[in-house]
Amino acid sequence: MSNVKTIGVLTSGGDAPGMNAAIRAVVRTGLAAGLKVKGIRRGYSGLLEEDIVDMDSRSVSDIIQRGGTILYTARCPELLKPEVQDKAVEICRKYEIDGLVVIGGDGSFRGAQDLARKGINAVGVPGTIDLDITCTDYTIGFDTAVNTAMETIDKVRDTSTSHERCSIIEVMGRHAGYIALWSGIANGAEEILISERYDYDEQRIINNIIEKRKTGKKHYIIVNAEGVGDSNGMAKRIEAATGMETRATIIGYAQRGGSPTAIDRVFASMMGARAVDLLVEGKTKRIVGYREGHLVDYDIIEGLAMKKDVDQYMYDLSIRLSR
Ligand code: ADP
Ligand code: F6P
Repeated sequence: MSNVKTIGVLTSGGDAPGMNAAIRAVVRTGLAAGLKVKGIRRGYSGLLEEDIVDMDSRSVSDIIQRGGTILYTARCPELLKPEVQDKAVEICRKYEIDGLVVIGGDGSFRGAQDLARKGINAVGVPGTIDLDITCTDYTIGFDTAVNTAMETIDKVRDTSTSHERCSIIEVMGRHAGYIALWSGIANGAEEILISERYDYDEQRIINNIIEKRKTGKKHYIIVNAEGVGDSNGMAKRIEAATGMETRATIIGYAQRGGSPTAIDRVFASMMGARAVDLLVEGKTKRIVGYREGHLVDYDIIEGLAMKKDVDQYMYDLSIRLSR
């Protein structure tokens, strides 16, 4: 058992639906364990500016269903400087924060690792729509983002069919293709372009469109991952080469907002609670994850060094189903 008496919680990097549910779990499990809980606003930037508030059970009422983060979030490039990390540690000490829960992506976890190395117990909770944290099969926000993308693509498909168009729909994910692969399968896309697999053979896509039109296909849906990009350019080239009207739709930030799905709320609740359990058990420099059906935790450095890839069966299936 540890001597942690006060914990701080912050959200950092891109927001993700379910972050509020995670904050709620941290606050309520922390209070239930007899800890004081402080909310740090605007991620590491707010920590450096001492934007720190006491949290009680009521501070997290009525938020489990809300998108965004009540603590706000920020990117704070200054935290890469050792002297700025020292200042962050000093501020934690001033507010008697001896355990820190960081809800964010891998960049945020690197910040947590730096503070932990300098003496602040820190645990990371994976919050990102991109699903790109290597040591976990699940990240908070992914399910909501995929559902938002899926609903949007359904709508684009309606108009695409009416106009007999080809539609390229760009989804988020930074360098990772998980949102594209999942929404592409869920929407029955003809093509799913992800940087992990795409060979940039646009001529093959063009030939496919021409062939499928001959068999009576009225629309052609291409889900393009942000990491591949250039959706507008691709639309112009495909239209010129196929003669089929082609439009690009970039879904963008809508994927980061909205009320979290049940899956995101439940994962966020479990992962937030587990982070507090770890701090109470005296563990630090850990990332909470979910693998093979169980909550797990890893050393931050080991967790970030792990490798993961899109599921090959899923990817092959997406090709088989699009024929
Ligand atoms: P995410 O956490 O979603 O991956 P970022 O990569 O933008 O988002 O990182 C969020 C914040 O984490 C950064 O603005 C910075 O404050 C901190 N951070 C990122 N990388 C590092 C690093 N190598 N060392 C210390 N802090 C970092
Ligand atoms: O990490 C979440 C994410 O939405 C990515 O999918 C995207 O590449 C990035 O954040 C956009 O970041 P910003 O909010 O800085 O535009």
